[in-house]
Amino acid sequence: MKNKLSMETLASLCKRRGFIFQSSEIYGGINGFWDYGPLGCELKRNVREAWWKNIVQHRENIVGLDASIIMHPKVWEASGHVGGFADPMVDCKSCKKRYKGDNLCEEQGKKLIKTEKGFALPEGIKCTSCGSKDLTEPRSFNLMFKTFVGPVEDESAIAYLRPETAQGIFAQFGNVLATSRQKVPFGIAQIGKAFRNEINPRNYTFRSREFEQMELEFFVKPGSDQQWHDYWVEERMKWYQSIGLPAESLNKYVYKKEELAHYASACVDIMYDFPFGMQELEGIAARGDFDLGRHQQFSGKSMEYFNQETNERFVPHVVEPSAGVDRIVLALLCNAYCEEWIGKEDQVMPAEPGKQPPEGFEARTVMRFHPKIAPVKVAVFPLLKNKPELMEKARGVFDTLQKWFPSFWDVSGAIGRRYRRQDEIGTPFCVTIDFDTLTNNTVTIRERDSMKQERIEIAKLTEKIHETLA
Ligand code: GAP
Repeated sequence: MKNKLSMETLASLCKRRGFIFQSSEIYGGINGFWDYGPLGCELKRNVREAWWKNIVQHRENIVGLDASIIMHPKVWEASGHVGGFADPMVDCKSCKKRYKGDNLCEEQGKKLIKTEKGFALPEGIKCTSCGSKDLTEPRSFNLMFKTFVGPVEDESAIAYLRPETAQGIFAQFGNVLATSRQKVPFGIAQIGKAFRNEINPRNYTFRSREFEQMELEFFVKPGSDQQWHDYWVEERMKWYQSIGLPAESLNKYVYKKEELAHYASACVDIMYDFPFGMQELEGIAARGDFDLGRHQQFSGKSMEYFNQETNERFVPHVVEPSAGVDRIVLALLCNAYCEEWIGKEDQVMPAEPGKQPPEGFEARTVMRFHPKIAPVKVAVFPLLKNKPELMEKARGVFDTLQKWFPSFWDVSGAIGRRYRRQDEIGTPFCVTIDFDTLTNNTVTIRERDSMKQERIEIAKLTEKIHETLA
């Protein structure tokens, strides 16, 4: 049984061990922006790679794209972001706290009211900070970051940092189709940064102003939308489990008809049970021909697909699984975090919050990442650092392993302390080189979760670690 994790505890480990830092911390930080440290960027890379392999490299009918972040401003007019990508902003007139209107209402068990002109607050909504009911009416606030292209800062030079990666895919639909020889159904995938000037960034990295998306636009024949939507929801649920998120921590939120955008025929959010509640990791929407249709209308360029076998011509419909890398990393960190008490014989019991371990037990914090996702796969320890023959032998083992896996070299402190340091960053294997190694070329390999140790030949180490990662 795991104890409920506090986000402060997780953030403290992430900072201490180099997963996540506050952006520009030396200047007091900047709200909604985060930096990934040495271990965090490895973890993030592993998430991206697992997604790219699963979505692009292991499928014949999906290809990749890496579009620019700043695009022609017409892209955002066509997509509807200039006109409608806005959140309802509410201010407390007493304490000046600013809220995203829909969140403020949801926290109080109510729903923001949609009106003809915009939004209104339901009766009784209070400021959660000071309790005042003296709140402004919700005002629309466009979330796109604006900038200028070129030296003159006038209206004609306005451009936007993309608020999603998807539009780069729609805008290049024709070029990709013409050059990749794909036939509908096929997909275009992209991973990249997105920017939203969120009113109220919160829950650590969960809602940030700069984040990364992994989006797939899967183009299908009109009429097959539902079938492909069902397919992608199941595929994506399986993927989350393949990177170590247990089925019981995941959930699907199926949108009701009245909650769907006017052009969408279905939408499902994949949710994870974060310490701050069940929240969205990814949305999977069947968006019809809205996006390609709008770009066809605004650019005057045809977005039609011609099926030579059937002589049919149509604008494909799209199914869009759209995931956030940072949210997945946060879910993996929350899921991996575990505090336990372990005895001399490696007996394990869950740690009791705020209490010291009983006599004969010590506390360990262990990040139980799936080995595929763990930032470091193996650590190598020479038993004693003042024995040159042990150091030399261990260095040889380390050099071999490092060619295959992100590896860690540690010579300082007792072996037990070195294990604890690796447990805390989630390294699945630790390898110790001792005096027996010098005579029989075997090492001790210790597994993170079970803490079981086994003696194996150096020649078999790489294969053993590869097996676990596969
Ligand atoms: N193209 C569709 C789209 O962008 P979205 O639901 O707005 O849909 C997709 O975003 C995913 O991007 C979300 O499920 C979430 O994982 C991630 N995301 C969105 N806004 C975010 C933010 N402010 N901070 C971190 N991740 C965010």
